[in-house]
Amino acid sequence: MRALVLGAGGQVGTDLVRFLLGSGHAVAMADLRPAAASAAGPAMAALLDRYGAGDRWHTADATDATVVARLVDRYEADTIFHLPALLSATGERDPERCWAVNMESLRGVLDLCRARSSRSIKVIFPSSIAAFGPLPGVPGGYPDGVASNEIGLLPSTLYGVTKVAGELLGAWYAHRGWADFRSVRFPGLLSAAPPGGGSTDFANEMLFAAARGETSIQTFVRADTRVPFMHMDDAVRALVELAQAPAAGLTRRAFNIAAISPSAEELAAALARRVPGFTVRWSAGGDPRQGFLDSWPRVLDDAPAREEWGWHHQFDLDRLIDDLLGAIRSADAHR
Ligand code: SER
Repeated sequence: MRALVLGAGGQVGTDLVRFLLGSGHAVAMADLRPAAASAAGPAMAALLDRYGAGDRWHTADATDATVVARLVDRYEADTIFHLPALLSATGERDPERCWAVNMESLRGVLDLCRARSSRSIKVIFPSSIAAFGPLPGVPGGYPDGVASNEIGLLPSTLYGVTKVAGELLGAWYAHRGWADFRSVRFPGLLSAAPPGGGSTDFANEMLFAAARGETSIQTFVRADTRVPFMHMDDAVRALVELAQAPAAGLTRRAFNIAAISPSAEELAAALARRVPGFTVRWSAGGDPRQGFLDSWPRVLDDAPAREEWGWHHQFDLDRLIDDLLGAIRSADAHR
């Protein structure tokens, strides 16, 4: 694969770059931040040095179509990972920027592919559980909390609107034969890199606090909050495996992918089993992010991804926590 990773310095991008380089792919990267200031910190610059890839990191606006066109042509990219995004909480605070970063930049990438349609460039786009929203007339949301791949997508955040619109726009470009667009709906993602302004950040905050030995933390969610989560290693592998899946086997352009769905309280209990004395002070509700979380499915049904491109997750809750407590501590030691 000749990959171009846009938004390479973010929570997903840093781990995707590590995975792609480690798997021997040719990778070019763009981000507003220099590698050493990415979500992975100085470790990112060290990683690029190790692979001799430092000069393929471009500190540039990854949402600027002119910049992207230059990089696509220079590196003869066959696959573009479009990762720049404002998440659910920050998107509500700055809707104009959310639309520009999430949507207009995707449109720019798709138009670029259209102009080079003979190359059939793949565009891999992370969608989200935020693409779902309350079901009209169904109090309590999804039946048994489970959203199947094709259930109505009626998000209540602008972030979710950009994800649904992105899925549909990409599918239309694919239908016209202009871009090979593919998308996964990610759950909340957990890794050693700090997240950036989402509603699922409560879980990342709990993990970071436990790893750093903070034994009493305040969170913004209720104890019974339950949404889907996934280890970042599973998430980036999903992006790459979907990119590599033979087109003939795919019947759709957007896929649910699932891993685990612990409640916030179950996550805290699993952390407390490893960090003695770890306790969480729960919120009674009221934070806008709680409302977004309550509007998302508690569990995703990912049967089409399993059937059509062999998706499966590898990290259950215990393995995820053991791995990430270690990864956060080791990242802290190098920051
Ligand atoms: N993690 C995202 C958010 O909370 C969901 O995709 O906004």
